[in-house]
Amino acid sequence: MQQTDQAAGAAPAHAPGPASAGRRPAVDLSEEPWRDPSATPFIDIRGVTKKFGDFVAVDDVDLQIYGKELFCLLGASGCGKSTLLRMLAGFEQPTSGQILIDGVDMAGIPPYDRPVNMMFQSYALFPHMTVEGNVAFGLKQEGLARGEIRDRVAQALELVQLTAFAKRKPHQLSGGQRQRVALARSLVKRPKVLLLDEPLGALDKKLREQTQFELMNIQDEVGITFVVVTHDQEEAMTLSTRIAVMNQGRIVQVGTPSEIYEFPGTRYVADFIGSINLFEGRVLREDDEAIVVACPELEAELRVDQGPSVHDGQKVWVAIRPEKIALRPDEGQALPPANAARGIVSGLGYLGSETIYRVSLDNGRVIEATMPNLTRSARRSVDWDDPVTLAWDTAAGVLLTS
Ligand SMILES: Nc1ncnc2c1ncn2[C@@H]1O[C@H](COP(=O)(O)OP(=O)(O)O)[C@@H](O)[C@H]1O
Ligand SMILES: [Mg+2]
Repeated sequence: MQQTDQAAGAAPAHAPGPASAGRRPAVDLSEEPWRDPSATPFIDIRGVTKKFGDFVAVDDVDLQIYGKELFCLLGASGCGKSTLLRMLAGFEQPTSGQILIDGVDMAGIPPYDRPVNMMFQSYALFPHMTVEGNVAFGLKQEGLARGEIRDRVAQALELVQLTAFAKRKPHQLSGGQRQRVALARSLVKRPKVLLLDEPLGALDKKLREQTQFELMNIQDEVGITFVVVTHDQEEAMTLSTRIAVMNQGRIVQVGTPSEIYEFPGTRYVADFIGSINLFEGRVLREDDEAIVVACPELEAELRVDQGPSVHDGQKVWVAIRPEKIALRPDEGQALPPANAARGIVSGLGYLGSETIYRVSLDNGRVIEATMPNLTRSARRSVDWDDPVTLAWDTAAGVLLTS
């Protein structure tokens, strides 16, 4: 069996403190270094391209990641996330471009001499070794003193809350516990950057959600930079300080989870993150408060107060999240001239905390609206086949030009 973790080389010792509940997070990114032009990125990816033969897996990527971020690379399968991560780790070399970590150009630097450690999709634990043995393995290979190995292993196991499981073998653990052993094994080397490729991919949904929070707490405790690859948008939204959305080898948008969600820059990003209603139309005019768009599918005009600058007649899309649309029973009231629609409930999904309504307009267009379930009531005020009106604010939509 192959040992897949890489030694963290001469990385200086970080001191992960013991896990203690209720402590204020050690990682304070409230200053948002990515908004500070004088801040120096910890990882600086400059114009990096990776080709396999003629195939471009990573296409001219520029990306800056700051110290102590929990940064997610998010995108559909095959978009180049793992390839980019593997170039940070040193398992792949860029075809062109440059990667700097902590100010040092990584060209020609082998994986074991980089201040990074990679946790793999398959945790690759040694089945015959105890939890403790698995975590200690890399340190023994580095030839550290017994006492130091013992202390560091104990600290790492405490961090992932596996102290009580130290003597067990991997087959005596749950999937989530095995994931934490792999995490301890990576952290025990004290890398400056931990690279995680789909770290929670093997866990079922419930356990994955729980483990996401553990991962965030652990990252708070150790205060090192995490770069996480995932294809799961909810996971990226939950975990990240910032997200880079990738598509076909390119980074299409970088932002905080709320920026990506509230201000998607393109239809691709809007559609990839959460559900959204997209209306195609043309710019009619612009007034003091909003850009006005005519959409052939809607009787009312669309008014939007956020988006790039556009000209009259330009083809655009207006993206509106379902939770920003208010739904009411249709009592024959007049429809407002803008940001409104009338239809019939053609689908209804009760999700416990909220209900998703699919509303069909006369022309067949379907609009999705979600309403929070604020009261516990067995009877719904709006049901299947009910006529309803939909309305939303000028601030609800985002104008997109691509
Ligand atoms: N060693 C390789 N040789 C040839 N093609 C590769 C190699 N590694 C990855 N690819 C291709 O590059 C693309 C991106 O792969 P990958 O980075 O693994 O995607 P992701 O992690 O986003 O799913 C895929 O089309 C994949 O088939
Ligand atoms: Mg991958």
